[in-house]
Amino acid sequence: MEGPRAARKEELQDLIDLINYVFRVSASKEPDMHICFPLFISENNLDNLLVYADRKTGKPISHLGLWINDFSYFGESLKIGYIGSVCTHPDYRGQGLASKLLDVAFQQLEQNGVDLLLVSGSRSLYVRAGCRVVGVVNWYTIPKKEQDVWFDVTVDPPVEPLNELWMKEPLRTKRGLKNFEALVEAGALPRCMGSKSKVYLASIGGVPLAYVQAVHNKDGSVYIYEWAGDRSVIVDLVRFVANNTESDTSWPVPSWETALLEFLSKMEAPVTKTGALSGTYKIIRFASFIEKVGRYLAEAFGGSPLTGFDQDGMQVLVYEDEKLALPPDEMLNLLFSGKLPDAVPPKMQALFEKALPLPLPWPIGFDFI
Ligand SMILES: CC(C)(COP(=O)(O)OP(=O)(O)OC[C@H]1O[C@@H](n2cnc3c(N)ncnc32)[C@H](O)[C@@H]1OP(=O)(O)O)[C@@H](O)C(=O)NCCC(=O)NCCS
Repeated sequence: MEGPRAARKEELQDLIDLINYVFRVSASKEPDMHICFPLFISENNLDNLLVYADRKTGKPISHLGLWINDFSYFGESLKIGYIGSVCTHPDYRGQGLASKLLDVAFQQLEQNGVDLLLVSGSRSLYVRAGCRVVGVVNWYTIPKKEQDVWFDVTVDPPVEPLNELWMKEPLRTKRGLKNFEALVEAGALPRCMGSKSKVYLASIGGVPLAYVQAVHNKDGSVYIYEWAGDRSVIVDLVRFVANNTESDTSWPVPSWETALLEFLSKMEAPVTKTGALSGTYKIIRFASFIEKVGRYLAEAFGGSPLTGFDQDGMQVLVYEDEKLALPPDEMLNLLFSGKLPDAVPPKMQALFEKALPLPLPWPIGFDFI
């Protein structure tokens, strides 16, 4: 076996064939992974497509892909890494190849200054490496009800107004117009689900107010997977989608979307299930992550900025004159799920009760990998 190493330009097609074979052809599906992920599985991202190749054939037989994104976190710039399209050809499985690629991926993420990792999966490979399921998401079913639609609705509009709204979101990947266009064109999430998606834009006098991405499933049901803009308009727009759908419209809303949660409670929308954020999470550079999040917390809640550092396998938070040391697992649970450990110093306790769980990047919608 040769590797681990970055994929080479001349073997990109063989790599695409491997990824398509594992995720698509072997499941009797269209070989379209490279169409789903035109930015991630591409020549421009070769340095982040890690492989093992067979020495005899020279072809890639195991792969783990990284996608590194700048993320605007209430104006702070976080670097977020995504892991996806992890696969080993069936003839080479169980030899530790994917596990070794994951080790190299962690080093590469650190070298690239990545603060936080999102993995589109929760299997033992990732959990053994410290990635955890976190966060709280409620799935709502939207009741149909007669509605006075006071805005114009455009289905599948150009990407410019969507980008304009997206850029005003406090939590967002920095896509840029060109990448946003490529992601909308690719529609990775609906393709992977075997569904079709539509984007609904609400505007007034040509001014964009809000949009939602709705995934229309074969059974007639609809999932709302991305949204941006004025929260009260988003709720009305989702109601519009629900009213024009024969089956149920479901909407996963994470805990930090407090305005949406309030509107949904007023609408008496039933919660059909409560789960975690999709995929698994791991903090890669703890001190850097806390420094950035700490500046947001200080701006939002007052006090001096929270800081953090690693020490002897523990992660230590420092706030004013207080310190809290936790193993990485408990730290993830505290920050991302709001589970307070037994002995939290009083000033931290007061801050955490207001601020946790932290709002987080969420790899659904057009960011799905
Ligand atoms: C998942 C996949 C990439 C693993 O590739 P691999 O090269 O065989 O991986 P490894 O040899 O490193 O590990 C194989 C398994 O043994 C487990 N394993 C390896 N070392 C281990 C150890 N010391 N202790 C416990 N478990 C161990 C791994 O966690 C992994 O389990 P998992 O398949 O439930 O995640 C491969 O099975 C595959 O291509 N599957 C289909 C595509 C897929 O589902 N990809 C993941 C998308 S989330």
